[in-house]
Amino acid sequence: MSGPMDERRRRTLGLLAAAAAGIPAGRLLAQSRIMTRKIPVSGEPLPLIGVGTWQTFDVGNDARGRAPLREVLKLLDGNVIDSSPMYGSSEAVAGDLIAELGLRAKLFVATKVWTSGRAEGIRQMEISFRRLRVERMDLMQVHNLVDVATHTKTLKDWKSQGRVRYMGITHYTSSAYAEVERWLGTGDYDFVQINYSLDEREAEKRILEVARERGVAVIVNRPFGGASLFRRVRGKAVPGWAKAELGIESWAQFFLKWIVAHPAVTCAIPGTGKPEHMRDNLAAGTGRLPDAAQRIRMAKDLDSF
Ligand SMILES: NC(=O)c1ccc[n+]([C@@H]2O[C@H](COP(=O)([O-])OP(=O)(O)OC[C@H]3O[C@@H](n4cnc5c(N)ncnc54)[C@H](OP(=O)(O)O)[C@@H]3O)[C@@H](O)[C@H]2O)c1
Repeated sequence: MSGPMDERRRRTLGLLAAAAAGIPAGRLLAQSRIMTRKIPVSGEPLPLIGVGTWQTFDVGNDARGRAPLREVLKLLDGNVIDSSPMYGSSEAVAGDLIAELGLRAKLFVATKVWTSGRAEGIRQMEISFRRLRVERMDLMQVHNLVDVATHTKTLKDWKSQGRVRYMGITHYTSSAYAEVERWLGTGDYDFVQINYSLDEREAEKRILEVARERGVAVIVNRPFGGASLFRRVRGKAVPGWAKAELGIESWAQFFLKWIVAHPAVTCAIPGTGKPEHMRDNLAAGTGRLPDAAQRIRMAKDLDSF
C-alpha cells in the first residue's frame, strides 16, 4: 500500500532523476508523473511521450474499432497526438473522439499538409481543421517535405494570424536527411519530426544535433521502427540490469527510454490504438532515464541478439 509519504517520496525521486538526466522536469502530470521537455522556441513543456495515429486510428465509423481509441485518448494529458490527411480516417476519428470526450484543451494536436500547390494545400489544411475539430492547430507540419516551399509561405501567414501555433517539417527516412537539414537551415521551423530508434539510428549523426543547435523541437516518429524492434526481441527477456537500474518493465519502455534520453529529443510518438500499450508507453516517460553509458549498453544488448 502506498500512503501520501510514499507518493511524495516518489515524486521527489522522479524530479531528482529528471534533474540528473538534464531534463527540466516541468509540471508533473496526473497521468503518471510523466516528465516534460521544453519546446525550445517558446519554453512550453511537452510530455516526453505522445501518440501517433497512422493506421491505428484509421477505423472510420466502426464503433468497435473506436472503443479502445477512446480509452487511449483518456490517458493523455498535454501529450502530442499526431495525424495527417495521409492517414485515411484517422484525423476524423481523433477529432470526433476528442470532441466527444471534451479533451481539446488537454491535447497538443499536430497534423500535416501532404499535397502540392498553394490552393490545394490551403484546402487540405482547412479540411484537417474541420476533421480534427480545432479552431487553432497546435502544430502544422509539411509531411515528407511535399511542396515545402509553397506550404511554408502559407504556414508563416497562418502562424502570424494565430491559426497555427507552431510549424514544422517531417520525414521518415535517412535518404531525406540532407534535404531536411537544408530546410532546417532556413530557420523557419519550430519543429522537426523524424524517425529515430534503436533500429534506425542515423538521425543521431547530424539531424538531432542540427535541431539542437538551431533550437528546433524534435518529435520522434517510428520509435519502434514501425514494430520491427518487437520482432527482433521476440522471446527475449528485458535485460535484468535495465530493470534494476532504470525501472524498465517492458521492451517498449526500453526502446522509448533510449530515445527520449537523447538531449535533442523533445518527445516520441509511438503509434498505438491499444490502451494497455499506451499505458506502457507513457510509463517510459516516468522515473529514471539512461545516461550516455547506459544508452550505449542498451544498444549493445540489442545488437547482441
Ligand atoms: N513522415 C511522417 O511524418 C511519419 C512517418 C511515419 C510515422 N509518422 C508518425 O509517427 C507515428 C509512429 O510511427 P509508426 O506508427 O509508423 O511506428 P512505431 O510507433 O514505431 O510502431 C507502431 C507499432 O508498434 C506497436 N506498439 C505500440 N506500442 C506498443 C507497446 N507498448 N507494446 C507492443 N507494441 C506496441 C503498434 O501496435 P499496436 O497498435 O498493437 O499497439 C504498432 O504496430 C505514426 O503513427 C505517425 O503519427 C510520421
